Amino acid sequence: MATLFDTRAKERRETFRDFFGVEEDEEFNEESLERLLQFEDLMLKYRSAIREVTTKLEVLNDELSVSREHNPISSIQSRVKRPYSIAEKLRRNHLPVSVEAVQANLNDVAGIRVICSFINDIYDIADMLLAQDDIRLIARKDYIKNPKPGGYRSLHLIVEIPVFFSTGKEPIRVEVQIRTVAMDFWASLEHQIRYKNDSPEVKAIAEELRICADTIAATDVKMQELKLRIVEKTKTS
Ligand code: GTP
Ligand code: MG
Repeated sequence: MATLFDTRAKERRETFRDFFGVEEDEEFNEESLERLLQFEDLMLKYRSAIREVTTKLEVLNDELSVSREHNPISSIQSRVKRPYSIAEKLRRNHLPVSVEAVQANLNDVAGIRVICSFINDIYDIADMLLAQDDIRLIARKDYIKNPKPGGYRSLHLIVEIPVFFSTGKEPIRVEVQIRTVAMDFWASLEHQIRYKNDSPEVKAIAEELRICADTIAATDVKMQELKLRIVEKTKTS
């Protein structure tokens, strides 16, 4: 009969195999067990940082829904990068596959995606988050003002937040992607289409996807204008 412990052991073996590339049936020795524990410890730190930042975003959303009678955030998703993808990214960047290398080089192990209603909400939420004195901005990429050549739009922030553990506080990095519902719609479908696409039509499809992105972006701008008109009208009436 499978016990909780067995399930956990299986998961740990998978983590070990996916990250360190060691075969599943290999016995853990003291050294490999130590490395596994270090890795698990680091993942726990990323999960904790996600919770801290998510709470900040939820609090802002709650506050604004009262003060402005409008929910700027429609949903929040988060994930910790899978061990296999972490190892793959390290290898791609010619870095050693080690816990130290993850901490020193990767900014997107902890990821939060914030889906907003309107374009203005994206910048409001980003500004309010960055104004908090325990949040340190590491990098900001505005793919809304400067869309990627493929048409991708979102505001990306790499932030560092102190997380308190029994041993003291540690700064942990989190990637926050902020986008509208419309930008998210495009990005998720584009992701599915791009990764399944090995047809000779690749170029034509890429071009059509970019046109779709532009159309969606124009609609986002229009929606924002309509929203502002309604707000102005309510103010004056
Ligand atoms: P990564 O190695 O992919 O993390 O690239 P990077 O460090 O240069 O970061 P970048 O700013 O390019 O974007 C990182 C993340 O944004 C990706 O992991 C995706 O989640 C998202 N992203 C960036 N470009 C695209 C795109 O063209 N399409 C979609 N669907 N998502 C994108
Ligand atoms: Mg990434």
